[in-house]
Formats: sequence, structure tokens, C-alpha cells
Amino acid sequence: MPQNIVVLTGAGVSAESGLGTFRDTGGLWTQYDLAEVATPGGFARNPALVHDFYNARRANMRAAAPNAAHVALARLQRDWPRARTGGRVTLVTQNIDDLHERGGAPAVIHMHGELNRALCAACDARWEAPPRTDPADACPGCGAAATRPDVVWFGEVPYHMPVIGAALSTADLFVAIGTSGAVYPAAGFVAEATAQGADTLEINLDPSDTAAAFAAHIHGPASATVPAWVSGLFEAARAR
Ligand code: APR
Repeated sequence: MPQNIVVLTGAGVSAESGLGTFRDTGGLWTQYDLAEVATPGGFARNPALVHDFYNARRANMRAAAPNAAHVALARLQRDWPRARTGGRVTLVTQNIDDLHERGGAPAVIHMHGELNRALCAACDARWEAPPRTDPADACPGCGAAATRPDVVWFGEVPYHMPVIGAALSTADLFVAIGTSGAVYPAAGFVAEATAQGADTLEINLDPSDTAAAFAAHIHGPASATVPAWVSGLFEAARAR
């Protein structure tokens, strides 16, 4: 019975809410050149294209609703401390959408940033993003027209790594949900957790690139598999 659980989610947890994944058939990286819309070089070359890309994803996000997987993970994070005295659930997401929060999750760690936040490339000021951002937007802090999405691009350092590392070091169970395991450092979390003795579980539509690194697997759509898994945890805690 795990006490401290670290959950890592990827685009697959939001797929049934209608938000595209990246590497599945028809995924975002089959529609856009990631070098042009998700790297500092792409932003420098064509900031308008990058703003358009994230404006479209922000509109899709705001039109989408959390699914049963988001709601189940929110229940787990909220209620697990009562079910397992002192138990803790750390919810880390690679996703930049806000569906975990809108599903009720009390504390979400966005290691790749958030569509709902804007960043000044000149002074590092951050603010809540309007529905649409534009390269001409002036920074509310320094006034420079250097607005960018507060999203971690390829080649940049993911956010909150010290907090994530600390959670992995004390986890009894590490669970990856809806992620291909194609991008580091997130893809390396399973090895970090395993090295310190945690159990590991992959919940995914089908085996990911890092499936072999996990001790256990549940395959199927997250909106079905995640609620069932969460309910099973609470039933086992009650049975103790
Ligand atoms: N339920 C569960 N899993 C699903 C579902 C679903 N309904 N639909 C798709 N999946 C799985 C796919 O099988 C795949 O393994 O979700 C995974 C999505 O993989 P990716 O598209 O690579 O997305 P992700 O793993 O989140 O990408 C990681 O790469 O491009 C960067 O910054 C971006 O955060 C992203 C990172």
C-alpha cells in the first residue's frame, strides 16, 4: 500500500477532452514543425507564428472540459492524505493546459509551463495570459514588446525540477499517465523512482517508449483506467 505517490501526466490524459497529443497519428508534431513553434530559435525567427500556435491551443483548452481522469486524480490528491494518514500525492504534469485544475486538483506542478500565463522575454515578468497574445503586447513590468507564452520550449530548462526531485526521492509509488516517455527529463523520472526503491506503474493507451522501465502497466483510455485505478487504491486503503 503506497504512502507517498508521485503522478506524472502527459498529453494522453487530456486526449479525451479533445486536446491533441503530440506524437500519436495526427498529433500536433505531425501538423506543425516543432522547431518553428516550440523552440527559442523558432520564436526569434517568427514570433507571430508562435503566438498564433499558442493562441489556437489556448482557445482549444478554454473550449475543452476536464475528463474523468482529471477528476479522479483530483480526488486522489485531495483525499489520499485522509485515507493514508500522512499520505501525500504530488501531481506533476508535462501539459500546459489547465484541465487538472479545472478537474479540482488542489496542487499541480506544470514542469513545461502553462498556456494561461505569459512571460516577458526581456525582464522575466509573468502575468495571466489574455485569450490572445501578440508580439506587440507590452510587458506590464518593463513595457518591452517581448511577450512570449510562459511555456518551456525544447532546449530550455523545465520548471520546478528541485521540487519534483525531492518528491521522487521519497515516493513509494511513481505513476506515469498518458505520456510517450519521449522527452527528458520527464522520461527519466521512472528510473529515478526505481533507483530509490519506489514501485512504478504506467497507465497509458498502449505501451510507451519507456514501458519496459515500469514494473506494472494498465493499458486503455485514461478516462476509464484512471478512475478505476484510483478507486482501487481507496478500496485497498479501506480494507486495511
Ligand atoms: N488515454 C491514455 N493514454 C493516451 C490516450 C488516452 N485516451 N491517448 C493517447 N494516449 C497516450 C499515447 O499512447 C502516448 O503514449 O498518450 C501519449 C502521448 O504522447 P505524446 O503525444 O508524446 O505526449 P507527451 O508524452 O505528453 O509529450 C511529452 O513532449 O512535445 C513535448 O512538451 C511537449 O509535454 C510534451 C512532451
